[in-house]
Amino acid sequence: MVNCKFTILALILLFYLGVLYHFQNQQSSLPQTHFITKLPIKEIQQPVNNHTYATFHHPHAPPYPYPYEFLINQPDKCKDRTPFLVILISGRLNELEARHAIRATWGNESNYDVNVLRIFLLGFSGSVSDRTQMMLEEESKAFGDIIQQDFIDTYRNLTLKSLMGIEWVTKFCPKTSYAIKTDNDIFLNVDYLVHKLLQPEVPVRQNYITGLIVYGSRPERNNRYRHYVPKEVYPNDTYPPYFAGPGYVFSADMAQKIYDVAQKIPVIPIEDAFNGICMHELHISPTISPRGIFNGHRIQYNRCQFQKIITAHNYSSNLLRSIWQDFWPLNSTGCK
Ligand SMILES: *[C@@H]1O[C@H](CO)[C@@H](O)[C@H](O)[C@H]1NC(C)=O
Ligand SMILES: *[C@@H]1O[C@H](CO)[C@@H](O)[C@H](O)[C@H]1NC(C)=O
Ligand SMILES: *[C@@H]1O[C@H](CO)[C@@H](O)[C@H](O)[C@H]1NC(C)=O
Ligand SMILES: *[C@@H]1O[C@H](CO)[C@@H](O)[C@H](O)[C@H]1NC(C)=O
Ligand SMILES: *[C@@H]1O[C@H](CO)[C@@H](O)[C@H](O)[C@H]1NC(C)=O
Repeated sequence: MVNCKFTILALILLFYLGVLYHFQNQQSSLPQTHFITKLPIKEIQQPVNNHTYATFHHPHAPPYPYPYEFLINQPDKCKDRTPFLVILISGRLNELEARHAIRATWGNESNYDVNVLRIFLLGFSGSVSDRTQMMLEEESKAFGDIIQQDFIDTYRNLTLKSLMGIEWVTKFCPKTSYAIKTDNDIFLNVDYLVHKLLQPEVPVRQNYITGLIVYGSRPERNNRYRHYVPKEVYPNDTYPPYFAGPGYVFSADMAQKIYDVAQKIPVIPIEDAFNGICMHELHISPTISPRGIFNGHRIQYNRCQFQKIITAHNYSSNLLRSIWQDFWPLNSTGCK
């Protein structure tokens, strides 16, 4: 009898836990209504394509368009200068060391013989009065190279971070010739990018976007992965060709076009695939760059080889500093 009671009790407990678990799971996949109620319903003047893309909001898509506000901005950076290249550097709030390493290495504007402007892109911790935010404001005062909007700084909001950079170019630095979106864990050879690829002596290209192209990539449909994109957010089985996140370069007119089209189509949480969707919507073809100059992986440092690439990925700040010591100023003695 006692045994039986115990079994029943245990069963009830199990059932209760099961319901609880189920409910919690459901909650995380239910629309988070606070997004939806906060979001303005935007009228779409002109569908971009015949198909039924519309501004809609889904719990698995970053909320956009949304009137994000700049918590930190650099509105006057381009008042007295016209950059040739704006370097937009995506990273996380706590990665101060990475930012310092970049300021001292490839992000040092005074290294270059053309006007290069460095901007770090950051999201928000969620509290204006916390230590992270205080320190960031100090850092911004000291270096004047940080912009921040009030979206939460998370992996699945990375598209919003890049869009913030693109918005900044279109609103506060539209006369730049080019911009590159990069990450704070890459090696960037600005000199090669400027002089060999972009070439200041040739007229600025139009509808130009290039980088490491990715073909035929498929949306992740399993919601256990951080790349998850449900069909309701992106229905097709493959993404259009897009440029990998660690570094893609575009002309200023392209920044304006991407910014404009992003207001009208669903923004997906995959930062780089989104640039492909924008190109597709805009009917603008990707510009293919020579093989091997944009790299999405780490390459063992070699002075001569590094003089002929633009990006390589996944360098800690210490590794970057030590590479840079040998790499800059350029020394091509012994290189073919
Ligand atoms: C940037 O380079 C200039 C000149 O090459 C140098 O004087 C300056 O210390 C460098 N800045 C940083 C943060 O390393
Ligand atoms: C993205 O940012 C929005 C706006 O701050 C926030 O409500 C949302 O929770 C963030 N999304 C994720 C997946 O972190
Ligand atoms: C998705 O597929 C449809 C049907 O094939 C096509 O018309 C549309 O252009 C595709 N969209 C993207 C973003 O690839
Ligand atoms: C980056 O390098 C670290 C080792 O330093 C490695 O553990 C990690 O998997 C690498 N990440 C990528 C994306 O290559
Ligand atoms: C350039 O590299 C060569 C070969 O490593 C070296 O002998 C030379 O001293 C270097 N020149 C400068 C100015 O560092």
